[in-house]
Amino acid sequence: MSDTISELAASIRSIPDYPKPGIIFRDITTLLGNPRAFRRAVDELVQPYAGLKIDKIAGTEARGFILGGAVAHQLSAGFVPIRKKGKLPRDTVRVAYSLEYGVDEMEMHLDAVQPGEKVILVDDLIATGGTAVAATQLLRQMGAEVVSACFVIDLPDLGGRRKLEELGVDVRTLVEFAGH
Ligand code: PRP
Ligand code: MG
Repeated sequence: MSDTISELAASIRSIPDYPKPGIIFRDITTLLGNPRAFRRAVDELVQPYAGLKIDKIAGTEARGFILGGAVAHQLSAGFVPIRKKGKLPRDTVRVAYSLEYGVDEMEMHLDAVQPGEKVILVDDLIATGGTAVAATQLLRQMGAEVVSACFVIDLPDLGGRRKLEELGVDVRTLVEFAGH
């Protein structure tokens, strides 16, 4: 692990037994609150895409907005919010996705991306991949090209990264935590 990646890993707070016994919650608020770690995390996320012509960054509500906005700014790309249902004022495209218990829906404005636009999906963490797979489906449904998806944290034991790669998406992650 490089020094930068160890520093990022150390800036993430791990909270045992939250939100329920046996789960370790990986809390990025400590990374975000640390000026150096926040800058480094965004720099590392952006680095593989330097020189590519990216039209839009898509971020999933809520934590994906924080990192996605910063990545969009750095790549001089637009930003597309993918929101939990009922928040967007104009016509939307909607997709169901699975949560730990049950399902929810997320949506995006119909005119948020144009066919052929190159989009990178950004979120803080990939676990089961339910969120990222659903976001990829929305973007592809509108004709966007999902060039890549990037996350600060991967929980490889939950298999999300593999699921997304099976859909043909290039996946980049910075820090891996074993277990849930
Ligand atoms: C968390 C996290 C990712 C998602 C990853 O978001 O920020 O978006 O879960 O899990 P998955 O790979 O199993 O789908 P959450 O739904 O808790 O909402 P938040 O971002 O609004 O906190
Ligand atoms: Mg989230």
